[in-house]
Amino acid sequence: MQIQHNADLRRLNTFGVAARAVTLVTLRSAGEARDLLRQRALMAAPMLMLGGGSNILFTRDWDGVVVVPRLLDREVDSSQGDTVTVVAGAGEDWDGFVRWTLGLGLAGLENLSLIPGSVGAAPIQNIGAYGVELRDRLLWVETFDWQSGRTDRLYNADCGFGYRDSVFKHELAGRLVTRVAFRLSRTPDLELDYGDIRQELADRQLTRPTPLQVAEAVCAIRRRKLPDPAHIGNAGSFFRNPVIAGAHAADLREAHPAMPQFAALGGAKVPAGWLIEACGWKGRREGDAGVHADHALVLVNHGKATGAQIHALALRVVDSVRERFGITLEPEVRVV
Ligand code: EPU
Repeated sequence: MQIQHNADLRRLNTFGVAARAVTLVTLRSAGEARDLLRQRALMAAPMLMLGGGSNILFTRDWDGVVVVPRLLDREVDSSQGDTVTVVAGAGEDWDGFVRWTLGLGLAGLENLSLIPGSVGAAPIQNIGAYGVELRDRLLWVETFDWQSGRTDRLYNADCGFGYRDSVFKHELAGRLVTRVAFRLSRTPDLELDYGDIRQELADRQLTRPTPLQVAEAVCAIRRRKLPDPAHIGNAGSFFRNPVIAGAHAADLREAHPAMPQFAALGGAKVPAGWLIEACGWKGRREGDAGVHADHALVLVNHGKATGAQIHALALRVVDSVRERFGITLEPEVRVV
């Protein structure tokens, strides 16, 4: 295990904001997590699990221990007919892992290509894109419990998955995810219903695409719309798409006929990007904190913005959307 004091977190968060941790612990194996348990002084401090740092905004230093699991492992666990179970360590880069599965001729994760972050963080968020969520492909999640020192395996149905939500944000918050297993297939059953994908495939004249071609289409769409954190600091969608009650949705449809709405459990889902753009925020900048010019749901760090400045901008966006539409946006990104 690697232990660093007064550690710089700037390169460990994709917003690229300055923040420090009293202690930074990098784990290379689940065994090292058990070793860390014996370090009483460290265990007494507030602990933060950090994956790829692609879904977090630091507005202050972390007055405790930041744990980064670099647990690397990719294996084909078993196969039964067309169904293949693959397992990945929490520290694997998500997109690298997706590409590895596609290279093995396995279908299932193609729509989730190019999402920044680590395998271990993926179930916490129940990452999703282009009509597929992680829960559609996940078999189990292995976690390490800092209280009992036990490793448990949670099967899909016990993970409490919801839209960008899971039990790992609630009852099991703070658990260390060590490994994740996925059920993939040698026979593609492609999900092409998301409008952008159909259009992209049509533009490429692909009527019977392979999983790899779908992945390439997804990558092209993402590259066009979403800023690459390697070039401009960001954490993808900053807010969740809100679900509003039926009556409220109907009122808004009447007042704003152009507002897109999608049927959802409990009412209608409205694209937060549309709401933010309608309030005039798209491409706006306050110092180095900004709203991305190509996608209003993404907040960006143009260079030297602090986390607090980006957070202040986010709060102003929330206020104006609430004032205009009566909808309160909730962050998707974890604000620390
Ligand atoms: N829109 C605008 N203006 C904008 C951006 C979007 O009007 O500036 C409207 C358009 O009507 C567009 C609609 O919003 O058709 C939806 O936009 P998009 O397809 O880009 O999807 P999204 O709802 O903004 C969600 C996920 C993304 C995921 C895409 C594709 C959330 C919070 N975000 O975004 O996930 O890639 O769908 O499936 O659910 C992420 O979680 O970080 C992320 C990028």
